[in-house]
Amino acid sequence: ARLDVRETLHNISFPGHLHTQDSLNYAINFPFRDTDTLIATYPKSGTTWMQGIVTAIENRGDPHLSKTVPNWTRAPWLEQYYSPGVLEASHGHRIITTHLPYQLLANALQDSKAKIIYVIRNPRDVVVSYYYFHKMANFLPDPNSFDEFLDEFLEGKVSYGSWFDHVKGWTSQAGVLANFFCISYEEMWLDLQGCMKRISSFLECPLVDEELARSLKQCSFSSMRDNPMVNYTQVPNEIMDHSKGHFMRKGKIGDWRNTFTEVQIDHFDNVYSSQMQNCPITFLSE
Ligand code: PPS
Repeated sequence: ARLDVRETLHNISFPGHLHTQDSLNYAINFPFRDTDTLIATYPKSGTTWMQGIVTAIENRGDPHLSKTVPNWTRAPWLEQYYSPGVLEASHGHRIITTHLPYQLLANALQDSKAKIIYVIRNPRDVVVSYYYFHKMANFLPDPNSFDEFLDEFLEGKVSYGSWFDHVKGWTSQAGVLANFFCISYEEMWLDLQGCMKRISSFLECPLVDEELARSLKQCSFSSMRDNPMVNYTQVPNEIMDHSKGHFMRKGKIGDWRNTFTEVQIDHFDNVYSSQMQNCPITFLSE
């Protein structure tokens, strides 16, 4: 059975299983500290991967934390109901995750020196990943056919709102917010080592070769797929139906070609070019 309760804020819909009006209000008024690291993503863009990367870098490749503490406790989602408890109990440095669009956090982040990492992924791969995730995640609406889901995605009607608004909102902050770093899933896929070095220097946590090698190993698709602290296999079947798919599904770039029809490709490209005309971003997996 679907746990299909929704919350909305500013016309954006959120799964009610994880969000309440109070938790959303808590997030948009959150007092960020300059020592916080914020991972911001549209869903299915590499959130879990970046949580793993930041954890690995900050622990200099020591896998203890990532093997013993679930990602949502190590790097809680600001807007989800459990986050006040986790965040208020943590002193000093915090890793915080968010799927909220920039527009909803603009006030909270004004003048903040928190380090922000925005991960962007080819929206064609995002929509395919999101579609399969909707099939297994009972706290999301039944996606019906891929064709119907694609329309909802392009119209911004899916949970967490429009991909276009999300990407335009966050990327507009490059060079505006004090400490903003943007990286793509595709760059990480093609050169994780180079990306790890860039991320570690952004985090002011440079790694020696051995620490880098251990971090890389921990963040490979196969080690993350097999780590119960990040692969969501611990979530009960009523919430994520593991017989219908895996959270760590494929972990590829450009795989959208196996799902899109020619007609869907044309439709997608039309919407994309009209939505993104003032925001020239291209993806390595187009
Ligand atoms: S969520 O639900 O928004 O937190 O999902 P998110 O973590 O952003 O995205 C899930 C997709 O990321 C893939 N993934 C990885 N790819 C490569 N390497 C690593 N280490 C990795 N970890 C997660 C995951 O498989 C999902 O993509 P798809 O295309 O569905 O496989």
